[in-house]
Amino acid sequence: MKTQVAIIGAGPAGLLLAHCLKAEGIDCVVLERQTAPYVLSRIRAGVLEEVTVGLMERLGLDARMKAEGLPHDGFNLADGERLIRIDIKALTGRQVMVYGQTQLTRDLMEAAGPRGLEVVYAAADVALHDIESDAPWVSYTSGGIRQRLDARFIIGCDGFHGPSRKAIPASVARSFERVYPFGWLGILADVPPCNHELIYANHDRGFALASQRSAARSRYYIDVPVTEKVEDWSDERIWDELSVRLGPEAASHITRGPSIEKSIAPLRSFVFEPMRHGSLLLCGDAAHIVPPTGAKGLNLAASDVHYAAGALLAFFRRNDADAIPGYSEKALARVWKAERFSWSLTRLMHRFPEDGAFERRMQIAELDYIASSEAAQRAIAENYVGLPV
Ligand code: APR
Ligand code: PHB
Repeated sequence: MKTQVAIIGAGPAGLLLAHCLKAEGIDCVVLERQTAPYVLSRIRAGVLEEVTVGLMERLGLDARMKAEGLPHDGFNLADGERLIRIDIKALTGRQVMVYGQTQLTRDLMEAAGPRGLEVVYAAADVALHDIESDAPWVSYTSGGIRQRLDARFIIGCDGFHGPSRKAIPASVARSFERVYPFGWLGILADVPPCNHELIYANHDRGFALASQRSAARSRYYIDVPVTEKVEDWSDERIWDELSVRLGPEAASHITRGPSIEKSIAPLRSFVFEPMRHGSLLLCGDAAHIVPPTGAKGLNLAASDVHYAAGALLAFFRRNDADAIPGYSEKALARVWKAERFSWSLTRLMHRFPEDGAFERRMQIAELDYIASSEAAQRAIAENYVGLPV
């Protein structure tokens, strides 16, 4: 089989890119290791920046997001008793959209067939070949038969564990990593949210986040040591902990209910450089991971797709080969700023085992400063709403 662009991975990054290319008349084939239902069973964050919303709008795939998504004008940082509201609308003139990543992936998936996108699910043993040449190719097994897909470019959208990043020789690559000593225990429940906007809390007992999916579905998190087992956390124990950590005002509005999903996700910061080597470009989690504090993961995947689609468009439609080499530097400039924001919000809102009384006072002083300074709030707001692409 032959195509212009071979995309590995049908998560949000791969599907978004495939739709962007298809809309411009560029041929592509997407190879996904899992089945479609498996991809949709993964529950991820749910706050979309304008860059992500804008991509869905331009693709004409925003109908359900506009109908069911919740535009938010602000969010809160909680420090013990008090809520510090960050008014992103007043400070930046912009909003974020609360809409689950699973929903967005479903929208992209459902439109794939009608728009003639070729997505091969259950593609096993995907391997990349000749990425340093102008004629790279991918081998994979589908229906028990070994296949070959020739392309002009390969785009690795295969997440943190996929084969694409590993195809770039170690001699030209560098990675940067920070693994955190805690994970987020998340609970999804069909109960009304405790607050109309998100609350990120730093309590003496640890971090908590109150988020939502709709007026009738809530998403909550608490941080726990990475060694913790989800079986040790009954729903009641999680609700009790949330009620303490989110502070008395939010706690008085918590509606308890049975969990429909419960899991612990580790926290990691990771960046791989470069994001292009020869005819291979990386997008999304294949190249970088952020801790979920600030919900930048999907939005970074969307901004990578924006840059990658622009470079590929220049190549195929305007015979301009110069944009491809610039992809890595352009994407990484935005990636590093989002890494910095996610890391600093994580640092501010969590208790680290190595922290002593001094570090705790530093957190309290910083939160107090944020509460009293519009300049500090503006800096947080412009990062939270998303830096320009
Ligand atoms: N062959 C083919 N596909 C693969 C392979 C492989 N060997 N390995 C992984 N994949 C697929 C995965 O099954 C998954 O569907 O690549 C896809 C990667 O999707 P995500 O992990 O969702 O990553 P990405 O599309 O970059 O999305 C980034 O979504 O996953 C969240 O936290 C992430 O919010 C971030 C955003
Ligand atoms: C979520 O709703 O799952 C969510 C929201 C904000 C975050 C992380 C996760 O920062």
